[in-house]
Amino acid sequence: MARIEPISETSIARAADYLRAGRLVAFPTETVYGLGADATNDRAVADIFAAKNRPDFNPLIVHVTSLNEAETLGEFSPTALRLAARFWPGPLTLIVNRKAYCPISLLASAGLNTLALRVPGAKDARRMIAQARCPIAAPSANASGRLSPTTAQHVAASLGESVKSVALILDGGACVIGVESTVLDVSNINTDQVSLLRPGGLSLEAIEEALGKSVSTQTPAQNDAAPKSPGMLASHYAPVRPLRMNATLAEPGEALLGFGPNAGGATLNLSRTADLTEAAAHLFAFLHQLDTEPHKAIAVMEIPETGLGQAINDRLRRAAAP
Ligand code: TXA
Ligand code: MG
Repeated sequence: MARIEPISETSIARAADYLRAGRLVAFPTETVYGLGADATNDRAVADIFAAKNRPDFNPLIVHVTSLNEAETLGEFSPTALRLAARFWPGPLTLIVNRKAYCPISLLASAGLNTLALRVPGAKDARRMIAQARCPIAAPSANASGRLSPTTAQHVAASLGESVKSVALILDGGACVIGVESTVLDVSNINTDQVSLLRPGGLSLEAIEEALGKSVSTQTPAQNDAAPKSPGMLASHYAPVRPLRMNATLAEPGEALLGFGPNAGGATLNLSRTADLTEAAAHLFAFLHQLDTEPHKAIAVMEIPETGLGQAINDRLRRAAAP
């Protein structure tokens, strides 16, 4: 059972140490409790997905302490800068393009070229992130399909057995806002369009007033006709090269993405020990690596449909779809 500790100088320092060591920490923000990990550590990020028991990979919000820090990770349009300057710290998440050489785990952004960034309003959360000295990837700290937790007790109850993989739950009492942050897509630098992806703690009216223009509230699915490149939407991420699953051998021209100890001849191996969390940690980085010359196609060996294997196979099936 993860320890629940009231927020204090000591518990924040301990949480920061755990995060730096690649462990999971649940912590309160002004919106809901987050399940945090070092966003630059693929393995730690994979542990988040394992603990949430999700059947797919949803990109995660990366929490930082300031706009300055956020600007080292993502490209901010003038509109994005304006929103950040006005509403950060606070319950607003901005989707921006990843900077070249962005150190954030590709798994945290589910292989997308975009990144969700937020400076939380809760001061203790910012202190913890500052002391950890790394950006913190954190989805809401609930098991998949459950309500977002607004108390430390909700976190423990919601995660159930998975709470074992959480090093520490910081207890800061009930979250003052109690709903998740508003998610705005400001990644389209060509049109400068602002799209609401998820309503949340910051009202649409406040955002439109700050911008002096209206915000698109179409869902991403309805937005498909808009000039969004494939790969911008989570459901559309796929390598350029054709991909097939359940391969045993590579055909001529194919790169073979292996799994497990019996993958002689694999170009890369997701996990030699057949560890699904390790495989998840490598998945997006390896797909990007294989989606290059001289390979003409990618063949992936069979991944078991259990635990994180479900999420890995979900991604691979989407990538394999014509
Ligand atoms: O208030 C909150 O936002 C809380 C606290 C912990 O910060 N976090 C939270 O995270 O609600 P999560 O993972 O439960 O929700 C993140 C949302 C998801 O709807 C996800 O699809 C979207 O943000 N998102 C993240 N990265 C994205 C990206 N690159 N493009 C589009 N949507 C993205
Ligand atoms: Mg959530």
